[in-house]
Amino acid sequence: MSESKQRIAIFGAGYVGLVSGVCYAELGHDVVVRDILPEKIEALERGEAPIYEPGLGDLLERNRERLRFTLEVGEAIEDADFVYIAVGTPPTYSGDADLSAVWTVIDELPEIARRIVVVMKSTVPVGTGGRVRDRLAARGLGHVGYVSNPEFLAEGTAVRDFMHPDRIVVGAFSAEDADAVAALHRRIEAPVLRCDVASAEMIKLASNAALMARISFINEIANVCEVTGADVVKVAEGVGLDRRLGPHFLRAGIGFGGSCFPKDSLALKQLAANSGYHFQLLNAVIEVNELQKRRVIAKLQRHLGPLRGKSVALLGLAFKPGTDDMREAPSIVLAGRLLAEGADVRAWDPVADGSGLHGVERAQSVEAALAGADAAVIVTEWPALAAVDWAAVAPAMRTPVLIDGRNMLDPAAMREAGFRYEGIGRAAE
Ligand code: UGA
Repeated sequence: MSESKQRIAIFGAGYVGLVSGVCYAELGHDVVVRDILPEKIEALERGEAPIYEPGLGDLLERNRERLRFTLEVGEAIEDADFVYIAVGTPPTYSGDADLSAVWTVIDELPEIARRIVVVMKSTVPVGTGGRVRDRLAARGLGHVGYVSNPEFLAEGTAVRDFMHPDRIVVGAFSAEDADAVAALHRRIEAPVLRCDVASAEMIKLASNAALMARISFINEIANVCEVTGADVVKVAEGVGLDRRLGPHFLRAGIGFGGSCFPKDSLALKQLAANSGYHFQLLNAVIEVNELQKRRVIAKLQRHLGPLRGKSVALLGLAFKPGTDDMREAPSIVLAGRLLAEGADVRAWDPVADGSGLHGVERAQSVEAALAGADAAVIVTEWPALAAVDWAAVAPAMRTPVLIDGRNMLDPAAMREAGFRYEGIGRAAE
């Protein structure tokens, strides 16, 4: 293995940077992860993962001798053959991706005489690679290589997604750089797709857009199911059995959230608009998702009438199970709308701390959240919710109204347990 061992510097210890860094160490490479936040680096040096991600802690522990953490650019670059950029690219006010953290990394690179390769893992607009190359050349670093190697990790399964990906995309300006980056992944069994830099950048944006389009599509089908009497869970099953379509990302619910989909959809919409193209389908995907989060309010009103003074329990806050991430979580919009309607909102989540939620009371258990509540909404399909003894908790509610925003429970069993149960896209009682 030693002949294929490379030295990798990773800039950014967020989800992508940290998971990638730890996984490259697991693949046998020497990795230095650099971040600007001292508390993050200190935690990592103590062997603690600063984020909740299954499997990450174990890999961190197992690969300690191949992993270093630093605040210093110089120390990170010193021996590096590859400089991975995995910094955040949040949306600006206009919806464009904010690349300032990317430019900071490029501008901070010291003068290096040897040939290294800068590799982009952050999600960036199409054309960024070309701009980075120009900026490097303007700094006299024209000999530095550049490769786009986008990530397709999903939170909660990030380690598995890295080690067993569907594909590895390598977009490069030169075959030599493409070979070098592809070789880093030698021990991973997956097809390697080589292409130009712009196409690699677009593959990342288009993949996320396609996944979001499927979600908004099935959510619209669900909404039509509600008015026509069909059951979207069965419909999705039937649609998904078509081999040309497949079963993934056809779970109807209260909409997508997270650190990627909402920001990436805006960024792609803006990217198209900036080039004079009106991306109609993507606009619809975004709008359907916004409306989907709000439809729960109407469902609650149908059961409870005006929500003023009513107590509503939100079960799950994170944007999906398996993570503590609250970024763009549908729970934030839902809580905001409920509070605006004058409801009292309480919330339970096994992991997420609910940052970003104001005026919401936290409950330590599902039972505590439900006691005396007028209604409950399943916002995140945490497995713990499937294990709740619902028949035992129903009598503790003032009115046993349960809106299952993720269709995770069996409607017949829930009605049997005493609930006025309603899912998304399924026949109401
Ligand atoms: C997503 C993609 O799945 C990854 O491939 C991509 O690398 C990542 O974004 C990124 O760009 O970094 P992630 O945001 O972690 O990953 O989570 P997903 O599992 O894709 O879920 C996103 C949202 O869609 C969640 O709110 C989830 O509840 C919702 N969702 C997902 C549905 O409503 N229905 C579905 O059928 C699937």
